[in-house]
Amino acid sequence: MRKGIIERYRAYLPVSQQTPIVTLGEGETPLIEAPRLAQHIHPAMRLFLKYEGVNPTGSFKDRGMTLAISKALEAGSRAVICASTGNTSASAAAYSARAGIRCYVLLPHGKVALGKLTQAVIHGATILQIEGNFDEALQLVRTISEHYPITLVNSLNPYRAEGQKTAAFEICDELGDAPDYHAIPVGNARNIASYWQGYKEYHVQGKTTRLPKMLGFQAEGAAPFIVGHPIPNPETIATAIRIGNPAAWNEAWSAQRESGGLFECVSDEEILEAYRLLATSEGVFAEPACAAPIAGLIKLARAGYFTAPCTVTVTLTGHGLKDPDIALKACHYAPQTIPADYDAVVRALHLG
Ligand code: F0G
Repeated sequence: MRKGIIERYRAYLPVSQQTPIVTLGEGETPLIEAPRLAQHIHPAMRLFLKYEGVNPTGSFKDRGMTLAISKALEAGSRAVICASTGNTSASAAAYSARAGIRCYVLLPHGKVALGKLTQAVIHGATILQIEGNFDEALQLVRTISEHYPITLVNSLNPYRAEGQKTAAFEICDELGDAPDYHAIPVGNARNIASYWQGYKEYHVQGKTTRLPKMLGFQAEGAAPFIVGHPIPNPETIATAIRIGNPAAWNEAWSAQRESGGLFECVSDEEILEAYRLLATSEGVFAEPACAAPIAGLIKLARAGYFTAPCTVTVTLTGHGLKDPDIALKACHYAPQTIPADYDAVVRALHLG
């Protein structure tokens, strides 16, 4: 049975025997070697995909949510609230249902993938869509959590970051050491900071001999780390990372600086190309935001960034099935309907 990340990494997490553990068996996600994709990017690269899409609600958010909800319950909270581009709300709704507490969700109207919205609905969250973007929704829920006894479970909640760092532990446990580079999509910027925290903690404990360079990738239209300041109207097809004013601004810069890594951005076209390439060359279906680091690695390799043989891990943060509309559009799928007839099938498949 999957124990979940709290039991697995209890020694590294702020829990006690009194903490009621709310888990859906998150973590222990596959680290998939991707030789075809590596060959495409750089011949001397070993590439590993940390496939977070197979977490219980289909994204990495579950690692932080198991801890945030457990600690909320321990503190006697009966309700939680979050703003979300979709995955946080899906996870918060599921773990709240599991815990038997209320979940309030604020979403940017029309900008949440259908699968993610559906998850919040089925788990019984109270959902409001605001006429504004994620950054505005986050500001609103922060203020509400200050005025009412409702626990904020966005990544400003310190337990979220603690839970999310366990993905870095799993990578090191599996590889036997830290990778040379870790590539990751950046939105509100907590996850890159959490990974860096995880890598550092393992290093201090003597579990690894080195630290990776952290490579953070944003979409061109939502790239505050590239322009160097928050932006008011972020826009990208990768709605998960459609964020202009990242909450973990300082922590993410620290991760970049301390690790000797970088931030880079890629266009929506590059994201969609990498999205299809990942699915067709490796059989891995991840949502569009996850293609940003793949596209970013391709861009860096073309610019001559990787010179020596290296090991690279990429976090694929969410499952592709969350956003089927984009997948069908990206592949220009136009269904062909034919008679239920042997000859018609053979002809249509160009076999005879
Ligand atoms: N990838 C996916 C699939 C996400 O859902 C998010 C964030 C990120 C990457 C970026 O992670 O914010 O820690 O830099 N989604 C949040 C949400 C904002 O509401 O689901 P980050």
